[in-house]
Amino acid sequence: MNVCVIGTGYVGLVSGVCFSDIGNRVTCVDLDENKINNLNNGIVPIYEPGLKELVIKNTNEERLFFTTDLKAGMDDADIIIIAVGTPEKESGEADLRFVEAVAKSIGENLSDYKVIVTKSTVPVGTNRRVKSIISEYCGHEDFDVASNPEFLREGSAIYDTMNMERAIIGVESQKAGDLLTKLHEPFDTTVMVTDIETAEMIKYASNAFLATKISFINEIANICEKLNANVMDVAKGMGLDDRIGEKFLSAGIGYGGSCFPKDTKALIQISGEVEHDFSLLKSVIEVNNKQQQRLIEKALNRFDRLEGKNVALLGLAFKPNTDDMREAASIVISEELVKHGANIKGFDPIAKDTAKKVLPSEVMIAESIDEAIQDADIIMILTDWQEIKDLDLNKVAALPGKPVIFDGRNCFSLDYVGQFDLEYHSIGRPSLVE
Ligand code: UGA
Repeated sequence: MNVCVIGTGYVGLVSGVCFSDIGNRVTCVDLDENKINNLNNGIVPIYEPGLKELVIKNTNEERLFFTTDLKAGMDDADIIIIAVGTPEKESGEADLRFVEAVAKSIGENLSDYKVIVTKSTVPVGTNRRVKSIISEYCGHEDFDVASNPEFLREGSAIYDTMNMERAIIGVESQKAGDLLTKLHEPFDTTVMVTDIETAEMIKYASNAFLATKISFINEIANICEKLNANVMDVAKGMGLDDRIGEKFLSAGIGYGGSCFPKDTKALIQISGEVEHDFSLLKSVIEVNNKQQQRLIEKALNRFDRLEGKNVALLGLAFKPNTDDMREAASIVISEELVKHGANIKGFDPIAKDTAKKVLPSEVMIAESIDEAIQDADIIMILTDWQEIKDLDLNKVAALPGKPVIFDGRNCFSLDYVGQFDLEYHSIGRPSLVE
């Protein structure tokens, strides 16, 4: 099949690359000439395991193309995928400027039947709007629109796409449903065909539910701390019940990234528009905002003042295996530490450059974990990168400052830490004091 993907951000690039890898001819279109030139030379704008290799492989095998020319990209396509950004407006609602601009350009260039699929996360009703914009500009209705939300996670985006658990296809016609079902056949996945509004809602409801699971376990963690219980074991015990499931029950310093924070706020906005007060989801967000401050609270309880303290922040990206700093807890935490007059050294295996751009200028970025922790009084673990989980605690215990560890991602078992002469505070578990 011939597929045109518009927008080479996370979703567009990963989907385009994966659709080409399963044998389609894919053209990815973006307005950014520099990005397209780079992609044509195998230079990938984001860090995502396995992506670069697949870009190079499929470009060399002439199944994957990159261009700034929308008309050329969509002319031979059976399916056009819209995967442009839907950033958050001040009010929390999704900004549809880019989606609408793309719909207009598609309309201006649409001559024969195609299925136009929205993969960007868009409020319920957006595909109808896309349809009316396209027909306004092309002057006919010989096309279908469809919603095909994506469920990939940054850091494991290729794996998630190649091994997708389900494909949700929201359509108005059997023809579009059949074409998109065929496109997904090689993934050997469960395809659910539904109406457009339902597909749009499945995406928001899924992200809101996962965010709810995280805030729920974080609340349980905070209670566990007061009752001397261990939240990791509580989560494990809960997860043994199939109806609950073990995933997304890792307590920590809350969720970040480009999706949960934005999509939960957007769903509250969407609910408000139909006069529904989504109070549960409002609490989920409130709990998350508080949770991002937990390590600061713990450090203040322990030290009273953080002024002049040397703090090493380990893991700056919003989660492991990505250089994405959007809504990362490290931003809120380092801003708060700066206010308290602490000296901060941050380390991240991959996100050093992206971190430099968004963290306060007072944060020094270290080249290695050793450099970050060498004169630390406090170590705060913010992201559970493997390199951080592999940290040699012998080495930490031998440091001159005898740093106190505040672990926001429960990277180590209490039994393991207990073998060292260390003070260790984590989330939802008893503290270990020397
Ligand atoms: C999320 C969803 O998991 C994807 O299904 C969805 O497609 C994507 O949003 C999207 O809408 O594009 P992502 O934001 O990339 O994916 O990353 P997650 O792995 O979901 O993690 C989000 C945040 O939750 C991270 O900050 C992570 O540390 C935190 N988290 C996750 C927890 O605190 N506890 C958990 O148990 C799981």
